[in-house]
Amino acid sequence: MSIQRFVHKWHRSIAKRIPGIDPPVPVGNRRIAKASKIPFLLPSLSLSEIFEGSDQAEVTMLTRLIRTHKLAMPEHELITLGAIAKALQPKLVVEFGTFTGGSTTALASNMPVQSKIITIDLDPAKRDTHVHGLGVGVSGFDVGYLFRGTRYEQMIEQRYANSVDFDDQELLGKADLVFVDADHTYEFVKRDTQKALSFIKPGGSILWHDYTWEPSNTECVGVTQTVNEFWQEHSACAQIAGTRFAIYTPSIASLQSKRVAA
Ligand SMILES: C[S@@+](CC[C@H](N)C(=O)[O-])C[C@H]1O[C@@H](n2cnc3c(N)ncnc32)[C@H](O)[C@@H]1O
Repeated sequence: MSIQRFVHKWHRSIAKRIPGIDPPVPVGNRRIAKASKIPFLLPSLSLSEIFEGSDQAEVTMLTRLIRTHKLAMPEHELITLGAIAKALQPKLVVEFGTFTGGSTTALASNMPVQSKIITIDLDPAKRDTHVHGLGVGVSGFDVGYLFRGTRYEQMIEQRYANSVDFDDQELLGKADLVFVDADHTYEFVKRDTQKALSFIKPGGSILWHDYTWEPSNTECVGVTQTVNEFWQEHSACAQIAGTRFAIYTPSIASLQSKRVAA
């Protein structure tokens, strides 16, 4: 029996007995076995093809975001996030997956002063009993510490929730951008994406991290599969060249119509 299957069975037996423990979701290992069969279907576009002029974006970046943690987003992707914030000028961003707050800070420091980010991560007190699609997740980190004490902290509202249970009706149709970067297994990304679609206003954008990945990171296949399906239904998506991001944004639809007409 694989470790993932063992953890899943163990958790299911505990969840039956102890009220208040999240019900388990199916273990994603079958999806992972099929990872090599899931292609990266999205067209690859440079950031400046998607957002005209963004190759000259002057992005604000705090040096505290330079880190060596294996899950830390690399600097070129943080700059990309900053440039996206500059291009979209969002008033409200919702983020699934705060972690230490690197992506939150990169977004906030490039958003208009009066804007706001709501960022969601698991309650640290529940992290050790919460079973992710791939087993128990990362532990021992301080959620959002990177934005604490910065001038951007006041723009950020940190909330603890399991993203799939996060159901704030007040956000429906209100966000300019939703960034999906929490649990990467298909069942979770699919639900986070449906939620993201319900949160964005007409003309809003959705951004996913880890749409593309190296062969050693097959656990991200759930993102690829979800975004491929989303693209087939909604179009207007691209992988951002030189990064692992995929984005759904209206400017891609206009670009595609221009190219068809030319
Ligand atoms: C890849 S990290 C996010 C990285 C962050 N966006 C950054 O770039 O700095 C994924 C985060 O999602 C959180 N997470 C995993 N499953 C979750 C869930 N079901 N609901 C909310 N957060 C979740 C993890 O605790 C972890 O902090």
